[in-house]
Amino acid sequence: MKFDDDDSAAKAAKKKPVPRRRALKVSLGIAGAVMATAAAATGTRLWRTGAGGNLTAGAGYEPWRAWDSGDLKGIEGIIAAATLASNTYNSQPWKFTVTDNVIDLHADPARGLGALDPFGREMAISLGCAVENMVIGAQALGFTPVLNVLPAGPNGYHVARMTVFPGQTDKPLEATALARRHTHRGLYTRDEKVTTQVIDALYAQTQYTKSRLVWLGGDGPNGKQFAQSTLDAAQAILADNDMRRDSMSWFRRDLAAVNHKADGLTLNASGLSPFMTRMALMAPARTVDKRLADRSIMLTRDVQLASAPMFGLITVPDVNDRTALVEAGRLWQRMHLTATLKNLAMQPMNQMMEMADRDRSLQRTSNAGKVLKELAGFADAAVVFGFRLGYAKTPAQPSPRRDVKQVIA
Ligand SMILES: Cc1cc2nc3c(=O)[nH]c(=O)nc-3n(C[C@H](O)[C@H](O)[C@H](O)COP(=O)(O)O)c2cc1C
Repeated sequence: MKFDDDDSAAKAAKKKPVPRRRALKVSLGIAGAVMATAAAATGTRLWRTGAGGNLTAGAGYEPWRAWDSGDLKGIEGIIAAATLASNTYNSQPWKFTVTDNVIDLHADPARGLGALDPFGREMAISLGCAVENMVIGAQALGFTPVLNVLPAGPNGYHVARMTVFPGQTDKPLEATALARRHTHRGLYTRDEKVTTQVIDALYAQTQYTKSRLVWLGGDGPNGKQFAQSTLDAAQAILADNDMRRDSMSWFRRDLAAVNHKADGLTLNASGLSPFMTRMALMAPARTVDKRLADRSIMLTRDVQLASAPMFGLITVPDVNDRTALVEAGRLWQRMHLTATLKNLAMQPMNQMMEMADRDRSLQRTSNAGKVLKELAGFADAAVVFGFRLGYAKTPAQPSPRRDVKQVIA
């Protein structure tokens, strides 16, 4: 269809060139309108997705504020402290039952990691972290705890029984770090070295466990080997469909899911810059999913491994000994709390251990397993946990937690 008016206007436009100034005004006007529309759309997305506000204000972060408020009391307070523990993929693989002054901690197999943790190594370590927080939480709330680890034998779901008695005057210093301890996945500074005094303070935490610590300087041959093999393992995990699926299932891409599920891995705690975090929160889910794999490899390589002045390994005599794994978790939790008191940043890095377990479960030779044996240094030491440590200029971001009422069966 053709309109005469259109035609005449076009002809007139042809005859009379638009003066430069007016043309500039028109194009500026169009650009302005486009920018205003884009800004309005961005504003709407910022508001609709919550990406423009306080990212940790929601219900998923309430348990951290609750512990900090000092209002938590009694048995429920002790369990609340346990739920703030470090745990693999923030899967929170725990359930609690309470009878009078007895708290039982059970593994929750429904919260397992599938192909990422075929032997339950990371689940057992996570439960050990919860045990340690229970002990510190009980003492902080004025109780003397009596602990029995794996009371029904090493292979059951019953991980610990804690009987608490009123009366404890010494409040542990670590309790003040319970709600400040967060995994730091961002940039560490390589100029500030970790001193031997700090290492000694972390080492001191091993005294009551079967675990040993191995330290690897970021610039030394073993540190470089750890970094390269961790990166290789991270890529191998993404290339393995089952492992990739099981890891993605713990990823909560938007704030609604973060606060509703109150578990899993979030963009906010991923190590992205605050600006990139907000951009990613606003992006459509499909775009985020597509870019996530590349981003996670970039973060691992260029931020986490490249900026770490130091790495550490926890070893136990036998990787199949669940008592030792629970103890390794207790050690990690206590070390991370001690480090938090000293403003030291830490991040577990277990890609190699996950790949070694996966290879073992499929009965194939394991490059990750071979490297771990070499790094452990002793024939009777099996590496069950790896981490990096250093100082960071930005604060670590918290990860959500389920409310204490949701974890008591
Ligand atoms: C056994 C175990 C393995 C972990 N492995 C990793 C890892 O490979 N990479 C990582 O960034 N965090 C790892 N973490 C840290 C958890 O993801 C983290 O504790 C969880 O998301 C909760 O966050 P928070 O520690 O800040 O409270 C691990 C923690 C545990 C206990």
